[in-house]
Amino acid sequence: MLALTAASAAPYVALTSVPDPMPLPDQALVRVRAFSLNRGEVTDLPKLPEGSMTGWDVAGVVERAAADGSGPSASTRVAGLAGTGAWAQLAAVPASRLAAIPDEVSDAQAATLPTAGMTALRSLEIAGLLLGKRMLVTGATGGVGRIAVQLGHASGALVTALVRDMAASAGRLRHL
Ligand SMILES: NC(=O)c1ccc[n+]([C@@H]2O[C@H](COP(=O)([O-])OP(=O)(O)OC[C@H]3O[C@@H](n4cnc5c(N)ncnc54)[C@H](OP(=O)(O)O)[C@@H]3O)[C@@H](O)[C@H]2O)c1
Repeated sequence: MLALTAASAAPYVALTSVPDPMPLPDQALVRVRAFSLNRGEVTDLPKLPEGSMTGWDVAGVVERAAADGSGPSASTRVAGLAGTGAWAQLAAVPASRLAAIPDEVSDAQAATLPTAGMTALRSLEIAGLLLGKRMLVTGATGGVGRIAVQLGHASGALVTALVRDMAASAGRLRHL
């Protein structure tokens, strides 16, 4: 299969041919349709050994369900946290870290949710009930920040978005 693997020179990834993954019994084999680029994994690229697989978040279709019978069945459209190896045509993903994608959500949208979405969700859960509360989101144009703004608004909070560059951020925040 093809995969984006770590390279020693900028942009620190290269499209290479690698062996297909061999899922563990509790992992499903996912045919990847979309993946996201999180800040953490992109900034880590120069530190990775050349040729190593990377990529955290994946969306696609289950090609082969986990051998232990857990998780979604074959042909289910799913998103999840691969941990590594998501930037490839096939990814072995723990079945417990996969969720079915609702019909109205695209593959590209779903691929943004595992790392950034869960980080925003967990942060808001720590804050507890948000209804009627004031909430400040720093880095509001980022992957985590944009989802935090939407979750806060949907939870009934009065959300203030803090951005670095108002002019450059206007377009990215207009749809929120
Ligand atoms: N602990 C975890 O599990 C976990 C998981 C995910 C993320 N994180 C952390 O959460 C943070 C956000 O992650 P992300 O994926 O959302 O990153 P991101 O998409 O790159 O967003 C970063 C945000 O920070 C803003 N920013 C950058 N430099 C700034 C500065 N000097 N002053 C003010 N704002 C600045 C950016 O604004 P511009 O767009 O204007 O540059 C952007 O809105 C990162 O620190 C990341 O490491 C932690």
